[in-house]
Amino acid sequence: MTVSLEQLRRCHVAVDLGAARTRVFVKGAGLVVDEPSVAAVNTRSGALIAVGALAEKMTGRTPDYIRVVRPVSGGTVVDIEMAQRMLRHLLGDKLRRQLRRKPRLRAAACTPHDSDPLAQRAAVETLVGLGARRVELVDTLIAAAVGCGLPVEQPTATMILVCGAATTQVAVLSLGSIVTAERMPVGGDAIDHAVIQHLRHQHELMLPSQSVRPLQVALHGNGLTVQGPTYTEIHGRDVATGLARSVTIDTAAVRQAIQTPLTAVLDGIGKVLRDCPPDLVADLADRGIMMVGGSALLPGLDQMLREATGMPVQIAERPDVCAVLGLGAMLEGRVQPLALGPISVDGRISVDGPVDDRPLSERPLSARSAADDLAADLAGDDPPAGERPTAAE
Ligand SMILES: Nc1ncnc2c1ncn2[C@@H]1O[C@H](COP(=O)(O)OP(=O)(O)OP(=O)(O)O)[C@@H](O)[C@H]1O
Ligand SMILES: [Mg+2]
Repeated sequence: MTVSLEQLRRCHVAVDLGAARTRVFVKGAGLVVDEPSVAAVNTRSGALIAVGALAEKMTGRTPDYIRVVRPVSGGTVVDIEMAQRMLRHLLGDKLRRQLRRKPRLRAAACTPHDSDPLAQRAAVETLVGLGARRVELVDTLIAAAVGCGLPVEQPTATMILVCGAATTQVAVLSLGSIVTAERMPVGGDAIDHAVIQHLRHQHELMLPSQSVRPLQVALHGNGLTVQGPTYTEIHGRDVATGLARSVTIDTAAVRQAIQTPLTAVLDGIGKVLRDCPPDLVADLADRGIMMVGGSALLPGLDQMLREATGMPVQIAERPDVCAVLGLGAMLEGRVQPLALGPISVDGRISVDGPVDDRPLSERPLSARSAADDLAADLAGDDPPAGERPTAAE
């Protein structure tokens, strides 16, 4: 089954449930939620204490009876009930009431490229539990490409690199469709982890994960590149004594430490380029790579990719919210119809056989799986308004 732009235009709300942040776009209202995907729970009573930024601040600072949880992991909803509770609180009463008034609430959600049916089902179930009658799933790569203004529907190649927290996805797009793509299970979290491990092993210093960002900023200038500062001072806790300690660290060694996760990203880019038809690779030499996702903001990452690939590399204007904004643009009908399907030698749209004669707006937007049927099963395709599930808590 596939989702077309026509189906997306009937949706009211777009959701991007990321490993690090949850974003919600409401048609007509814009981006209404952009908060960390974190919830703090009182384990004694089971009550939700905080969500979003406040809950994230509590990480590592809670007494025993408070647990900070992340219901989304690796781009997949791993705790559906907690994800629903978190989303309800992030949306707030006013917005929830507003959405509940829609007799047939339809939602669209980003799903990582190549996500398995279980992951798709989890995303659909989460939104159905919040009152959506139907959930359309769109590949994050397409949503992000639309969101950063790439001319995806043109018959020229564009390359997008989505640098998330848990995953990095890369694709070559042409004629509104994915020609080749790869998903690597490394992202900003793996880079942070590599820095933390390096400090622990080389300097016997424990650094809370929230302190990695200031370290990256300290290395700013030319970022994590050889032109940056040679040494920087960092504060943490001594592994052995537990006391606060400062060390001066060699930035070249930090760069070396983050090479491992970055090698996986470079391998993925290389594989996509190797699988890509030569004509499209020639287009890419001029256009280069567009970076989106929060980790695209890692200082110096673009420079590193430029040096490693020899291709021009750009960072999107608002890289972290590109995917949900792209989905929002499709919901609001601000996107030209996309012609999708593998391209044939003569450049016409074809699907291993006859040419698709349907109007562009009715052609499929991206491949979908059983999750679509599941959404229909769970919600009933268009059931009477009275039977609509409510998002009560
Ligand atoms: N200014 C910044 N500098 C460095 N890293 C950053 C910056 N801003 C965000 N990040 C990193 O970006 C990641 C979050 O990116 P993003 O919001 O795209 O993730 P996500 O969509 O929740 O994750 P995923 O798509 O993998 O499920 C985090 O790992 C965070 O550390
Ligand atoms: Mg994301």
